Amino acid sequence: MSEPCTLVIFGATGNLAQLKLLPALYRLDDSGLLPKALRIVCSGRSDFDAQQWVDYVRQTVAAGKAGAAAGTLERFCARLHYHRGDIADDATFEQLSALLSGADYPDNHVFYVSLPPSTYGGIVESLDRHGMLEENSAWRRVVIEKPFGSGLEGAQNLQKRISRHLREEQTYRIDHYMGKAMVQNVLVSRFANLMLEPLWNRNYIDHVQITVSEEVGLGSRAGYYDTAGVLRDMFQNHLLQLLTLTAMEPPAEFNATTLRDEKVKVLKAVQRIEPEGVGEFTVRGQYRTYRDEKGVAFNTNTATFAAAKMYINNWRWRNVPFFLRSGKALAGKVTEIAVQFRHVPHLMFPLAPGEGLPANRLGLCLQPNEGILLHFETKLPGAGMRTRSVDMSYLYEQDFGTNSLPDAYERLLLDALHGDASLFTRSDEIELAWRLIDPIIDGWDSEHAPPLAFYESGTWGPSKSDEFIRAEKGRKWFSICTEC
Ligand code: BG6
Repeated sequence: MSEPCTLVIFGATGNLAQLKLLPALYRLDDSGLLPKALRIVCSGRSDFDAQQWVDYVRQTVAAGKAGAAAGTLERFCARLHYHRGDIADDATFEQLSALLSGADYPDNHVFYVSLPPSTYGGIVESLDRHGMLEENSAWRRVVIEKPFGSGLEGAQNLQKRISRHLREEQTYRIDHYMGKAMVQNVLVSRFANLMLEPLWNRNYIDHVQITVSEEVGLGSRAGYYDTAGVLRDMFQNHLLQLLTLTAMEPPAEFNATTLRDEKVKVLKAVQRIEPEGVGEFTVRGQYRTYRDEKGVAFNTNTATFAAAKMYINNWRWRNVPFFLRSGKALAGKVTEIAVQFRHVPHLMFPLAPGEGLPANRLGLCLQPNEGILLHFETKLPGAGMRTRSVDMSYLYEQDFGTNSLPDAYERLLLDALHGDASLFTRSDEIELAWRLIDPIIDGWDSEHAPPLAFYESGTWGPSKSDEFIRAEKGRKWFSICTEC
């Protein structure tokens, strides 16, 4: 498993490396999970000499790591090498290639591209031009951050470009949600327990809700976000990934091919929301102060909130609506999946006048308060047979401790080093996801667009979103993680 390896990070001085990649690698080292012979080449444009880089990394990873084992920092820093270079300059790759062929650097290479999407194609071409993707006895892998394209055409063009140099098995496309332990736990909850599976279909489930809400607003990402908006930023990747895990069939075994085959089948079965249908099937919103954010056009129509109703046309899910919603500047940071079961077919217990019997609900709280919540009916004490709704909840941290959940990047980096692509997105998944999102984007740019609904920061989005889910059967959005 732990083969000697050299990890090259392009964009090592950037935000993602600073906030996620370097701390994740450090924690892995502290847990003894990195290959013994791992070297980390950090590539960036800034000027750092060896000592300055080590000092920078120490600062980056040291904060809050009081519990780290003695010696971890020294061991970790000894793995590092800073390589100054501009990826637009061919000499950078020439030098890198010379460096990597040195005896100090294991011949297996993982290249992590933590730079803007416009650089992905060029970096892969340059690596190949300098012979760094050739696999003889050693292996070569490239990890590519999201977004992979900003639409179907862009994703296809990028894929065409990189596939001239990289085989699919060498390509690791990141969706960091797949690295979250609780997202993987969706599969475990479904497929390591017998009792859910018989009920997990249109016969027993009324609808499913998937919520990924964020408390933060735009931050300093106007340049990217104002052209992307919530559909490209969150739906095409994270929300559709959660949908596939919720809806997929159980693969016969767990590996990169079978898992992704099943996810692809779901994406193929999702009914496209055509541009003419966006008024009926989607809500688009914008937080009221978004246009005042730095770098955003004063009249921008970029959506910071979206809700959508999707159907999956197969035997298991036909006519079961999946309600998806995501937004920025909302009331809380929450990722959850709520499965609302149907009502019992016949009720023999008396109800008070005007009272309805709530149906069971299962909540998978993916972050925060990671856990599972089951909402069911029980008998009220005393005479008669009156019932009341109660919750049974399981909290992950009660069992495994508060710091038990590794950051998503820890898992994904380790998988890339070990050559396990199960949690990375395959090219057909990416394309199918864009095929579902592009028509909505087109619809929103057309005369069919639903009005842009403004909402106050710190709320759960525009009131239109509540009307939208209520429209059919008086449903309402749930908030599982806050109940957990
Ligand atoms: C990223 C999006 O992919 O996911 C961001 O680009 C978003 O806009 C982030 O804030 C949310 O990730 P997490 O792990 O904080 O839920």
